[in-house]
This record gives sequence, C-alpha cells and structure tokens, in this order.
Amino acid sequence: MPTDVTVRVMRPDEWSAARAVSVAAFEDPTIGALLDGLRESWSWEDALSFVALRGDEIVGHVVFSHAFLDAPQRIVDVLVLSPVGVRPDVQRDGIGSALITDALRTLAATRPEPLVFLEGIPSYYPRFGFRRGAELGFTSPSVRIPPAAFMVYSLPAYEPWMTGALVYPDVFWRQDAVGLRP
Ligand SMILES: CC(C)(COP(=O)(O)OP(=O)(O)OC[C@H]1O[C@@H](n2cnc3c(N)ncnc32)[C@H](O)[C@@H]1OP(=O)(O)O)[C@@H](O)C(=O)NCCC(=O)NCCS
Repeated sequence: MPTDVTVRVMRPDEWSAARAVSVAAFEDPTIGALLDGLRESWSWEDALSFVALRGDEIVGHVVFSHAFLDAPQRIVDVLVLSPVGVRPDVQRDGIGSALITDALRTLAATRPEPLVFLEGIPSYYPRFGFRRGAELGFTSPSVRIPPAAFMVYSLPAYEPWMTGALVYPDVFWRQDAVGLRP
C-alpha cells in the first residue's frame, strides 16, 4: 500500500479532474457519459464519490451510487460501485487498492446502506472482502454479467434476510453500461 496516497471524499470543484482520471483509466469516452448521467441523477450523492491524491494531484476516482435490492420482504436501498479508475501511468502501484479500501472503510463507518454491489474483474475484488453475489443469495440484474463478475460487499447494516435481485438505477441502462456485449 503506497504511503504517499491520501483518499477522501471528492470535493465538487474536483469533478473535472476526477472525471478526466476515470476517462483516461478506461480509455473509453463512454465512461464520461456514464459519470455525467450519474451525477445528474437521483442515484448520485456527493458523499459517495472518493478521490485518491498523490501530492495535490488526483490519481484515482471511485463512485458509489444508489440502487435497489428487490428483497422478498421489501425494497432495500443499496450501493453500486462503478466506475473505479486509476490514472494509466500510475496503475498497478497500489493506488486502486488504497482507494477502494479507504472508501469502503468510510462507508462502513458512515452509511445506513447494508450492501455494495459491483461487476468487475473477478480476481481483483475478493482481496477487499467482496464475494460472489450468488453465494449470499443475490440475483444479478443482467444475464450478460458473468457470474464470477457479479460481486457484493457487506456493510455493518447487512442482515441475512436481505436477498434478491439487484436493480440498477436507470442511468446504467440508458448508457448501456451493464454487463458485456459480444
Ligand atoms: C482496476 C484498477 C482500478 C486497479 O487499480 P490499480 O491501482 O492499478 O491496482 P492496484 O495497484 O491496487 O492492484 C494491482 C492489482 O490489480 C489487479 N489488476 C489491475 N488491473 C487489472 C486488470 N486489467 N485485469 C486484471 N487484474 C488487474 C491485479 O491483480 C494487480 O496485481 P498485479 O500488479 O500483481 O498484477 C486500475 O488498474 C484501472 O483503473 N484500470 C482501468 C479501469 C478498470 O478496469 N476499472 C475497473 C473495472 S472492474
């Protein structure tokens, strides 16, 4: 874990720089449209966007947004982690790990939501405590998400009755940002 990296909630005036880091990380301009759509939607909350700084430069950015779990008893407010990106020239140097670890620690200390879902690289996220969604009784929102990529992290408010289907906020669908297409 790098010692010269600080992780904290993104300030509103850091939006352009953080957005640019995410777009560069993915080398994919559609990430910018996804971020813009999220930021304009009900699923955005300023307290759920985190940056990693090296000195005074933003080198990593992760966004959590509001989503639903359609559980048997009731709808449960949950979070989705997407996207997370580290500036290409400093990837694989522990910055993504610091960012995700610290952000999850802050969420665990501050949030009422019980769960964080994501779809991502199956070999990367278990080190932070993410597990396959199916292991805890969760149903993926799309048949186009490989089962190993649909993962979930339990926050302190999690209770075992919370099972069911993840429902993404509609911006993910509007941006066609769910699952894989051939
Ligand atoms: C994925 C990402 C956020 C990780 O941040 P990072 O600072 O590079 O990662 P860390 O240094 O904390 O961890 C390194 C480990 O991440 C894993 N990893 C990173 N990118 C990976 C990739 N494209 N495929 C598989 N594993 C990857 C590896 O296990 C790597 O370990 P290694 O260096 O021993 O091979 C960053 O690489 C990134 O922005 N990638 C492009 C955007 C992206 O793919 N985002 C996530 C989509 S799920």
